[in-house]
Amino acid sequence: MVRKATLKDAIGIYHLINHYAREGLLLPRSLSSIYENIRDFWVYEEEGQLLGCAGLHVVWEDLAEIKSLAVREDKRGKGIGSLLVEACLEEAQKLGIKKVFALTYAHSFFSKFGFEEVEKAKLPHKVWGECVNCVKFPSCDEIAVWVDLEKVPIRYEHKV
Ligand SMILES: CC(C)(COP(=O)(O)OP(=O)(O)OC[C@H]1O[C@@H](n2cnc3c(N)ncnc32)[C@H](O)[C@@H]1OP(=O)(O)O)[C@@H](O)C(=O)NCCC(=O)NCCS
Repeated sequence: MVRKATLKDAIGIYHLINHYAREGLLLPRSLSSIYENIRDFWVYEEEGQLLGCAGLHVVWEDLAEIKSLAVREDKRGKGIGSLLVEACLEEAQKLGIKKVFALTYAHSFFSKFGFEEVEKAKLPHKVWGECVNCVKFPSCDEIAVWVDLEKVPIRYEHKV
């Protein structure tokens, strides 16, 4: 099931994210940053095991970011990532957020939800302020994608 994370999930989230960070697919997160932002996170749990996570981080009055999306390697391709993205988008809609973006190498995965590629320069400077502290700065090759929730209804059909 997909649910909001609690503090007990922090270490599991940490391992999921940093597994992919070592492969260069996600930015690494410290345990401290996961605790501080635990309210951002959704997790997917099955039989007591944490199989996936994603964070919805509010950036501005009308903008939020999906961050740290990860599904355990042996459970990929079963619809878990889609459920997590959908939970983030539903939460964004409830919060009244207009646009949700992601910085990703998996842009075709996000396109299923109506995300489209956007020039990074269109995102607020606040987003790029954080980049200075990133291990990939200044040669980041991630693609920016965003979706306008007022124009694109959530339409993915669950596989799980
Ligand atoms: C990307 C990720 C979260 C998707 O989760 P998942 O549970 O495997 O995805 P789902 O089962 O819901 O969806 C599978 C679909 O996504 C596609 N997909 C999965 N990973 C993809 C990727 N890296 N790039 C493009 N498409 C991808 C699959 O081809 C499949 O397509 P289909 O439905 O047309 O067959 C997962 O593969 C993962 O953890 N990847 C490593 C970390 C990462 O790249 N995170 C995203 C960074 S923002």
